[in-house]
Amino acid sequence: MCGIFGYKGNKDTGALLVEGITKLDYRGYDSAGFATLDKGKIHVEKGVGKMKEISKKINVKKLKGKIGIAHTRWSTHGKVTLENSHPHMSCDGKIALVHNGIIDNYQVLKERLLKKGHTFTSETDTEVIVHLIEDEMKKVKDFKKSVIKALEQLKGMYALVIIHQDYDGMIVVRRGSPLLVGLGEKEFFVSSDVISFLPYTNKAFVIDDNELASITTKVEVENIVEGKKVKKKIQKFNIKGIQSGLGNFQHFMLKEIYEQPETLRKTYAKISSQLKQLHLKPFNRVVTVACGTAYYATLTGSYFFEKFLRLPVDVEYASEFRYKNPVIDDKTLVIAVSQSGETADTLEAVREAKKKGAFIVSICNVAHSTMVRESDFTFHTQAGVEIGVASTKAFTSQLLTLLLFALYFAKFKDEHNREQLVMYTNELLGLSDTIKKVLSGFSDIEKIAAKFTHYKHALFLGRGFLYPIALEGALKLKEISYIHAEGQSAAELKHGPIALIDKDMPCIFIALKDKLYEKVLINMEEVKARGGKIIAIATEGDTEIKKFADEVIYIPHVSEEVSPLLAIIPLQLFAYFVALRKGCDIDKPRNLAKVVTVE
Ligand code: M6R
Repeated sequence: MCGIFGYKGNKDTGALLVEGITKLDYRGYDSAGFATLDKGKIHVEKGVGKMKEISKKINVKKLKGKIGIAHTRWSTHGKVTLENSHPHMSCDGKIALVHNGIIDNYQVLKERLLKKGHTFTSETDTEVIVHLIEDEMKKVKDFKKSVIKALEQLKGMYALVIIHQDYDGMIVVRRGSPLLVGLGEKEFFVSSDVISFLPYTNKAFVIDDNELASITTKVEVENIVEGKKVKKKIQKFNIKGIQSGLGNFQHFMLKEIYEQPETLRKTYAKISSQLKQLHLKPFNRVVTVACGTAYYATLTGSYFFEKFLRLPVDVEYASEFRYKNPVIDDKTLVIAVSQSGETADTLEAVREAKKKGAFIVSICNVAHSTMVRESDFTFHTQAGVEIGVASTKAFTSQLLTLLLFALYFAKFKDEHNREQLVMYTNELLGLSDTIKKVLSGFSDIEKIAAKFTHYKHALFLGRGFLYPIALEGALKLKEISYIHAEGQSAAELKHGPIALIDKDMPCIFIALKDKLYEKVLINMEEVKARGGKIIAIATEGDTEIKKFADEVIYIPHVSEEVSPLLAIIPLQLFAYFVALRKGCDIDKPRNLAKVVTVE
């Protein structure tokens, strides 16, 4: 979703802005823009498309000055046009502003401002903010005070960076959308993600909700609701932990798939040590909240919790949970899962559960995220920075965390067979090597994928622990290859979806040798009888499966509880190779954003 970058210092800001905002392009965007303050005048450059093309079209040399702001826009209000891209300017050209978030009451404000004679040049909700500030400036004559007055009238979410031609700095505000301030040597950075200023400084602080930072020759932060100055805690961000660059890989998604043996090893070590620090009061029910891929992790987690803890688990889409007045009491444990820790729906679900008195355990990949700060306890997955919009390594680290969580608490339940628990733990210790084995078989998957690129639809089918993996496999294929794909329980086929089966509807079955294997074979037979093409993800050594499947991808045998962590790997590779053959923009699929900071 939108990315924000700002600079105030001694360097010429043009090239810095391009560099900084380009680092945020993983978030997803469709246009970008820059504003710099030079010799008392604001200069703006904008472009539509990806940064590669935009930086060729715009004149970076014209972006002079030591103060500048940049923005990548993921459109919500208004089409992808130059006019709608940020920065937005006041009528007098004295104020420029970039925004991430949504202003709910912009229509009312716009009408009021139009009546007052303001001219709007875009269809965005954002533009009202800059005109409101301009309007307040006429009365208050002070930039910061005008910003505060304007904010009092806004309903919605925002991260804002604002410059004024007569102000030697930037004003930065946050309500809902993430923003950090980086502190260099006599220079300051503002960004939606620390990653964009790490080459210059690893010292930064997070702006919290309702805080306004005035960045001039120093930084002053105040809480504008409480009207109090705030002393921020400066953190040092670990540069070593942040891998960047593609190395020998063509795409970040492929690189991230290949990183999984390592990210799982690190996650195992981290979570094992964190489990000892988690002290929960007795709970008799678990509710999970998450979106997208993280939701499928929680769905798999519900199988772990029900199996090992014999506890009921309600798996909720965060977006539904937040509006349904959920039943939560002090015996409910709420688990929130998010790679970014900034997903608006999941954050609101956490807030709703907290309001109702729940203890929140989150599973999150970004240590400085809002979710981590708002949870009672966080398990820190160690997937490292995930750049590809399609989540891969974050997903498996979430699965591992949920499984370790369930196994750890199962130890304290008397009915559990300790030897069996040790067996799972040993299996997990060897998981990285097992995954490496699956990854080494990539060329077979690539060949199979090549035969499936022309299809328009696909069904992914699995049962038990592998049912959520079928859903995640379908999501991977649809998001990066644009092939319509649905995940189903294989058992549900005959209750409806089987009507779709013909030669144009390939089915990808996850048919491992577990207790439901024979049942899945029957479902495969039903598809075959109707002329459907079948790819099977099967257990090494299973020759029987060849009678049913047109193509087989083998993976090593592991217990069914651990199998979700392995079965997803060939599905990630399959989606990747199909999308590659189709020439899709794999790391930045159309219409998608890496961090979904709006509802
Ligand atoms: O950052 P989060 O894990 O909260 O993000 C949730 C979803 O937006 C995310 O998983 C999305 O579905 C991905 N594109 C999946 O690949």
